[in-house]
Amino acid sequence: MENLWVSFHFLFPVLILAVLAPFSMAQLIPSETRVLFQVQELLEYPAALQGWTNWTNFCYLPPSPSLRVVCSNNRATELTIVGNKSSPSHSPILASGKFKVSQQTLSERFSIDSFFTVLTKLSNLQVLSLVSLGLWGPLPSKINRFRSLEVLNVSSNFIYGQLPSSIASLKNLRSLVLADNLFSGSVPDVKSLVVLQELNLGDNHLGPGFPSLSNSLVSIKLRNNSFRSQIPSKVRNFAQLRQFDISSNEFLGPIPSFLFSLPSIQNLSLAKNQLRETLPINISCNDELKLVDISHNLLTGKLPSCLASKPSNLTVLYSWNCLSSGNSKYQHPYRFCHKEALAVKPPIKSKKRASSIKLGLILAIIGGVVAIAGILGLLILVIVRRTGERRDKDNKFDRSVVDKTSIRSSPRSNVDARRLPQTMRLAAALGLPPYRVFTLEEMEDLTNNFDPSNLIGEGSQGQLYKGWLRDGSVVLVKCLKLNQKLLTQSLAQHMEVLSQMRHRHLVSILGHCIVSYQDHSNAASSVFIVLEYVPNGSLGDYLSDWRKKEMLKWPQRMAITIGVARGVQFLHTGTAPGVFGNNLKIDNVLLDDSLTAKISNYNFLPFKVGSDSPRPGQDNHISSTETAEKEDIYQLGVILLEVITGKRITSAIEVTDLKHQLEDGLTESASKLRAATDPSIQGSFAYQSLKTTVEITLNCLCKDLCKRPSIEDVLWNLQYSIQVQEGWTSSGNLSTQM
Ligand SMILES: *[C@@H]1O[C@H](CO)[C@@H](O)[C@H](O)[C@H]1NC(C)=O
Ligand SMILES: *[C@@H]1O[C@H](CO)[C@@H](O)[C@H](O)[C@H]1NC(C)=O
Ligand SMILES: *[C@@H]1O[C@H](CO)[C@@H](O)[C@H](O)[C@H]1NC(C)=O
Ligand SMILES: *[C@@H]1O[C@H](CO)[C@@H](O)[C@H](O)[C@H]1NC(C)=O
Ligand SMILES: *[C@@H]1O[C@H](CO)[C@@H](O)[C@H](O)[C@H]1NC(C)=O
Ligand SMILES: *[C@@H]1O[C@H](CO)[C@@H](O)[C@H](O)[C@H]1NC(C)=O
Ligand SMILES: *[C@@H]1O[C@H](CO)[C@@H](O)[C@H](O)[C@H]1NC(C)=O
Repeated sequence: MENLWVSFHFLFPVLILAVLAPFSMAQLIPSETRVLFQVQELLEYPAALQGWTNWTNFCYLPPSPSLRVVCSNNRATELTIVGNKSSPSHSPILASGKFKVSQQTLSERFSIDSFFTVLTKLSNLQVLSLVSLGLWGPLPSKINRFRSLEVLNVSSNFIYGQLPSSIASLKNLRSLVLADNLFSGSVPDVKSLVVLQELNLGDNHLGPGFPSLSNSLVSIKLRNNSFRSQIPSKVRNFAQLRQFDISSNEFLGPIPSFLFSLPSIQNLSLAKNQLRETLPINISCNDELKLVDISHNLLTGKLPSCLASKPSNLTVLYSWNCLSSGNSKYQHPYRFCHKEALAVKPPIKSKKRASSIKLGLILAIIGGVVAIAGILGLLILVIVRRTGERRDKDNKFDRSVVDKTSIRSSPRSNVDARRLPQTMRLAAALGLPPYRVFTLEEMEDLTNNFDPSNLIGEGSQGQLYKGWLRDGSVVLVKCLKLNQKLLTQSLAQHMEVLSQMRHRHLVSILGHCIVSYQDHSNAASSVFIVLEYVPNGSLGDYLSDWRKKEMLKWPQRMAITIGVARGVQFLHTGTAPGVFGNNLKIDNVLLDDSLTAKISNYNFLPFKVGSDSPRPGQDNHISSTETAEKEDIYQLGVILLEVITGKRITSAIEVTDLKHQLEDGLTESASKLRAATDPSIQGSFAYQSLKTTVEITLNCLCKDLCKRPSIEDVLWNLQYSIQVQEGWTSSGNLSTQM
């Protein structure tokens, strides 16, 4: 009888499983089954979760790479769901850093908070992997309700915001993988995760401080974030550390030599940072080392001998530093690292970034507005003198609106302050609200009664506030107090002149408000100027950040510089009198969400000349105007030079240096010219396009003022260059070479 039973058991296991499975085998308790159905619905029925019925036994699902449920004691201990949605690093829409619900994310109905509320009912989970599912929103702090969690993997989603500090209470966590999301801000202290072995925060926007970690870690991946600190000495205590990848950040300072001799270290990737100085030649390296990547930094001197001798199993990558070992073809000249190192700014930068308002922008606007204030008095004179000299400028405005290259017309000579209808047409074409005069009540509304929390800058002349128009768009409001005695009516006229300073490629003035009152014995006025807000940082920020730099391939760079040139053309020829001496530099070129260039801090030179300076029409004025005009061209040349070489320029010597490199490239060989350009644009340009741009750049930088081209020449050449580039791209070159 017993034997029979045993053989039956061995002969028909499959039958038994098939027939009795639903009754005798492990099954999830009903409440957890319900959770899974809710998860299916909340995730909007991804392919991985199709085909479930009321008879599905989740503990015995057929194995699949996209879904895995493991049960223990009728409860789920592992849930792995892998979708096929794209991720931030594969979504070009996110290039601007702003999140949008899209086809690649779950729909707007999705609430990450409700989702985790449901999910945390699976209270016995030890492994939770939710990959490429299009999850979006901030990670809820109730994540710490998974008391037994050992592995949390939410890579390749669109989770943004700060990491909740409650994550530090998941004491059993061995593996924390949050890679390829949109997390930002600093990493909470997770030193308390004493069994954590794997930490992968790669491809987010985290930083700037190095996270506080437990020294149990075996693998630390922080690549492609915004970390900006020194490599801390506490890393010395990470005896188990095998993988250390901090590439593509902004790490500063020297590389501590203990890194190479950590007892377990195998892969060390420090590439694309701002690490500098010379490594001691006699450092020791761990025998287990397999990969050392220190390329694209600012290192000088010789490679340490334990790296230079290259044991057979060790790969060492060290190009694009200023090292004197190996092939100098792939190294920058020594001066490059020295200068860049001096230019490295203190970590305060990240704070500014967090407030999302660039100091540069503030200074630029304060500068510009101070200039406006200073010249108002003089402007009255100019207008009074010229009221009879109005000329029709329709052509000029139409030209600038359609943004076409134009031939310079007759010398601009007068001011027309009464052309509001034109201004309105212009505004509509730019997508800006029409220029308007605000009331004090509206200004208070806009800035929430000048709430201190909206104050983003303060100078001797007044304050700068962030504000919101009725339609929700963000603006900047500059408040100026004029203690000069100015007639309100004339003041209003000047504001109309400024209202013409609107162009797709300028930071435009949207409107103003004038309030007059009696101050002691004097009549005084406050002027509020409402300015366009350009959210995305400056060209300078882009060119000095590895990650952002990669976004600017050659076609993007051409589009930006053409924008700058068009802005300059408008300043020079679009208003009368023309505006010269515009202090052009990459930090004054702001970029909006679509990377459209907008010049800020441009000047109003004709009005700025002091009361004793020559009036328009006199010889002296014309020559100083021309000097200022050619100075603009030179500065545009410097911007082009920085865009081509990807280097930030801080001195005239550097200009000369880089100019010579490009000149040599032009005369000697294509490969030499390519080598002189930014490594980040390699493969993205048509050679002829590059060459044309280099040629016009060198002309702009001519020592001889008279040899510098006009802005029209510059535009013509840049446009030719972009046409060549477009032809090249559309014939499929870009996709094959990038
Ligand atoms: C599953 O059961 C629920 C209630 O028990 C019922 O409403 C639903 O229609 C069933 N679904 C299927 C596919 O049988
Ligand atoms: C994901 O899978 C679904 C169903 O198989 C398919 O329709 C969709 O196109 C896939 N999406 C991507 C981005 O591969
Ligand atoms: C870095 O991350 C961004 C988005 O976070 C992504 O677009 C880019 O491709 C990543 N760069 C590298 C080199 O992986
Ligand atoms: C997390 O998910 C990614 C993507 O599927 C996978 O490559 C990685 O191995 C996972 N890591 C862990 C610890 O589960
Ligand atoms: C390396 O050399 C320096 C002097 O050149 C010496 O002070 C140091 O102790 C040496 N270190 C090792 C690990 O040999
Ligand atoms: C470590 O580096 C080696 C050599 O390049 C590579 O094959 C391996 O995949 C790397 N391991 C990890 C975990 O990155
Ligand atoms: C180094 O590589 C050789 C083969 O090239 C291999 O036999 C040996 O085991 C490797 N040594 C280590 C320490 O990995």
